[in-house]
Amino acid sequence: TIERTFSIVKPNAVAKNVIGAIYARFESAGLKIVAAKMLQLTRAQAEGFYAEHQGKPFFDGLVGFMISGPVVVQVLEGEDAVRRNREIMGATNPANALAGTLRSDYADSLTENAVHGSDAVESAAREIAYFFSEDEICPRTR
Ligand code: CMP
Repeated sequence: TIERTFSIVKPNAVAKNVIGAIYARFESAGLKIVAAKMLQLTRAQAEGFYAEHQGKPFFDGLVGFMISGPVVVQVLEGEDAVRRNREIMGATNPANALAGTLRSDYADSLTENAVHGSDAVESAAREIAYFFSEDEICPRTR
C-alpha cells in the first residue's frame, strides 16, 4: 500500500549539516518527499506535538531540545512508507540502532536522536495535519 508518513530532521542533525544526507537516505529507499519546510518550533508547538509524552520524565528535556534550533519537517510517500522510514531511522535509542541507520550515524543521545518518524499510519495522519495543510502537500504525478 502507498502510505504517507511524517518525519522531522531534529535540531542536532540540522546543526551537523546533514539535512541533505538524511534526505538522500529517504530518496535512496524509494520514499518521495511530497512536502517539506524548515521551521523554528515554539514551545507550545513542540509541547502539542509531543502531547502524548506529557508528564514523562524526559518531556521537558525533549521539548527544550526540539526548540533549541530549527527543524526540517517533511511528508514522505511510498510503498509501506511508515515501516520503511522506521527501518531507515533505526531504533529510538541510538545505542540500539543498527549500523547504517540514521540514528546510528547521526544521533547524539536518546533525546538528540537526529530524526523523528511516525510509528503508525494513524499517528502519521495526525502528525502530518499538525504541520501541513493539504495544499502544502504535492502529490507526484511524474
Ligand atoms: P521521537 O521519535 O521523536 O519520539 C519521542 C522522543 O522522546 C523520542 O524520539 C526520543 O528522542 C525522546 N526520548 C527521550 N527519552 C526517551 C525515553 N526514555 N523513551 C522514549 N523516548 C525518549
